[in-house]
Amino acid sequence: AAECFERGLLAGRHILINAGPTREAIDPVRYISNHSSGKMGFALAEAAAEAGARVTLVAGPVNLPTPARVQRVDVVSAQQMLDACLAALPADLFIASAAVADYRPDACAEQKLKKTPGSDDGMTLTLVRNPDILATLASHSERPGFCVGFAAETQDVLGYARDKLQRKNLDLIIANDVSQSGIGFNSDDNAVTLIDRDLTSTHLPQASKQKLARDLISRLATRLDRH
Ligand code: CTP
Ligand code: CA
Repeated sequence: AAECFERGLLAGRHILINAGPTREAIDPVRYISNHSSGKMGFALAEAAAEAGARVTLVAGPVNLPTPARVQRVDVVSAQQMLDACLAALPADLFIASAAVADYRPDACAEQKLKKTPGSDDGMTLTLVRNPDILATLASHSERPGFCVGFAAETQDVLGYARDKLQRKNLDLIIANDVSQSGIGFNSDDNAVTLIDRDLTSTHLPQASKQKLARDLISRLATRLDRH
């Protein structure tokens, strides 16, 4: 792995990474989102830049500094994240680490929503599906040469991850068991299993997201060379 960084194994490559949550507006002051911190994606962007790549990092709303020599594009909603990723093509490698909101309110109210005075009724929000950013890029005419997804699951982790690998036409998926506390979503450590297109799997045990990111980037560099 160290060799990947000393020798700049990703020099001349353009790596596109998305990271963090998306935010889907309900009205001017409210939104739907999730607890993604963006740490894994930012660590991957940092490691890819350290391996010599040109890196574009499309980031949802997160509280993290931009890694050195990384081109960062800030976005809010899933639709904006999709547009920014498409605008960054072509790329040699796309890593979709973002926790994209699956649904958004069917419309954003122009004014702040008000309760009806004198009523204690509940309220119903109508949600519509967001575009699938990863599936869109992986089936695009300018498809990145190598497409990598994440699968954060709480049960049957490898089974669901394999389904997503095949359904979204990916080259590799990184499966993440988020039912265990202390790893994955919004924490500093992670443990993952890589599943390649031929369904061979490789487990990377719990480590800091920094250490894991360097390991992942050097493994991806090897796969790009073989590709
Ligand atoms: N993803 C995406 N766009 C979406 C939803 C997901 O690009 N609208 C990407 C994620 O960035 C991740 C992969 O797809 O790399 C898997 O995301 P996940 O939420 O695990 O899968 P979904 O396809 O959304 O299925 P579900 O949430 O129902 O498990
Ligand atoms: Ca999802």
